[in-house]
Amino acid sequence: TTWQATALTLFPEMFPGSLGCSLAGRALREGIWSMETQDLRNHGVGRHRNIDDTPFGGGAGMVMRPDVVSAALEDVDPAGRPVIYPTPRGRTLTQSDVRRYASGPGVVVLCGRYEGVDERVLEARDIEQVSIGDYILSGGEVAALVLLDACVRLLPGVMGSDSSATEESFSGGLLEYPHYTRPARWEGHDVPDVLLSGDHGAIARWRHEMAEMATRQRRPDLWAAYAARAGEDISRPA
Ligand code: ADE
Repeated sequence: TTWQATALTLFPEMFPGSLGCSLAGRALREGIWSMETQDLRNHGVGRHRNIDDTPFGGGAGMVMRPDVVSAALEDVDPAGRPVIYPTPRGRTLTQSDVRRYASGPGVVVLCGRYEGVDERVLEARDIEQVSIGDYILSGGEVAALVLLDACVRLLPGVMGSDSSATEESFSGGLLEYPHYTRPARWEGHDVPDVLLSGDHGAIARWRHEMAEMATRQRRPDLWAAYAARAGEDISRPA
């Protein structure tokens, strides 16, 4: 049961890219997941195999043709996998989306130029539009690699046994506590005493406090959601 990734792209050489290295690369070679690409150019129309055209209504850039995208999709067996279109117009990708994708049979990712794909094919086919953040990439490929990296690290056997614990802390809705290693004193900066105390209860409490502090200071959006949930838990009778 290999987790299957398919990328529809004008740049198939970008896959698996950096995911061929490190832990994801080893998992790829071990067959924990697989990567295939569909070259959108193969479905282009006319002598020049055009895949895009100028936008109706005018304006800058080019738009990917719906007939080309549809033909490329027809050539892929989705096998129960969601089709995902990375775009800054999508809803923001979250760790719970990543968990959902990773626990399924895989993903099909349609990579477009950022000016976009004709809206009609996105509506006519069942395609999830997902953004990886509020900035503009030159195309969907790097966003697809981000999504695949986030999924692959959750597949059983890819990371060490501590991965579920690491995962746990983010799903708790807080940023992680800060980490320290040797040397205990570096350029005059000491590691916090509590971490050298051997008191595991005190360490756990300190780490939780630091996670809360970091979240409150850096991510008021996450903090508000966390505080709201904590309030609910307290007020709700068991
Ligand atoms: N394509 C271009 N920019 C993107 C973004 N921020 N997220 C997902 N796909 C994109």
